[in-house]
Amino acid sequence: MSASYTWVGWNRQKKIYDAVVASGVALYLATFITLGRLLFRPPHELSDEILLLRALGTCAIVMLHIVLSIGPLARLDRRFLPLLYNRRHLGVATFLVAASHAVASLLQYHGFGNVNPLVSLLASNTNYLSLTAFPFEILGLLALVILFLMAATSHDFWLRNLSPRAWKSLHMLVYACYALVVMHVALGALQSERSIVYPVLLGAGIVLVGSLHLMAGALETTRDTRAPAPPTGTNEFIDICSIDDIPEKRARNVCLKGRERIAVFKYDGQVSAVSSVCEHQGGPLAEGKIIDGCITCPWHGYQYLPASGRSPPPFTEKINTYRVTIRGRRILLDPNPLPKGTPVEPARFQPALEGARP
Ligand code: FES
Repeated sequence: MSASYTWVGWNRQKKIYDAVVASGVALYLATFITLGRLLFRPPHELSDEILLLRALGTCAIVMLHIVLSIGPLARLDRRFLPLLYNRRHLGVATFLVAASHAVASLLQYHGFGNVNPLVSLLASNTNYLSLTAFPFEILGLLALVILFLMAATSHDFWLRNLSPRAWKSLHMLVYACYALVVMHVALGALQSERSIVYPVLLGAGIVLVGSLHLMAGALETTRDTRAPAPPTGTNEFIDICSIDDIPEKRARNVCLKGRERIAVFKYDGQVSAVSSVCEHQGGPLAEGKIIDGCITCPWHGYQYLPASGRSPPPFTEKINTYRVTIRGRRILLDPNPLPKGTPVEPARFQPALEGARP
């Protein structure tokens, strides 16, 4: 959530994250090149230029696999959430490594003629109907264009200006990018590669990414199908849980069939309910907590006032609110959403006395 443009919203955590990513990339490149020199001996040795462009290409592919795995991993296990908060930085780093691979390849294979290297790339091979001689470089170029678009629009500035729906659709192109990268490798490097290692690693990567997405999808489907149906009346409250079931400044996630998820927060002797879907990128507000009096999204920190579902000024985001009441120590919720940003009086309760029965 930002009211004005700043290039990068760095905080201490993001700086550590970026330092780890940069060190990981440097370590990967150094290891790949060193192993390449040791394994490929004369007369089959590879030049430093070829080793570098291969190291950059494989590094970008590994990073793309990590980017694609973070989302489902975070849905399967909350401990991966910190990786999700910083995923856009990893996406930009992936683009930079992939672009370095592209430039290195362009200079190596198209940089020594008197034709513009890009023109040479686009015009030198037009065997689009051949499987073995397909101009696979074009596939890599298209994947790079998608990575560039995603990196260039990764800032919240673009999220606000493109609208969350358009931004999300654009960033879903990462799956098209992944398919292009797989074909780029399968129709390119793997055509001349004799070693079984590359195809096996690529196959394992595809299986890993596919399995994680299927597992996370199955988990979400199970949660939704087990969810109770909301009451049919317009004014019916449903029993959610006891006040004592919710930790202070945390929420109970309420899933009802066919409805959006609802976050019921307990704080300072009060209970409020809002949509669990963050306006930013749909992050799970029920997994966040109340910081400085505001519900704080666990993904990127957007904040909302629990009693109105509105972001504190100067921000303008709004989410649905819900009516809640307390009977005894049970929390009752009206599952019919009120318009976004509608103020609702929080339900109040007496804190349990030490040693008293709940
Ligand atoms: Fe980004 Fe909520 S702050 S999804």
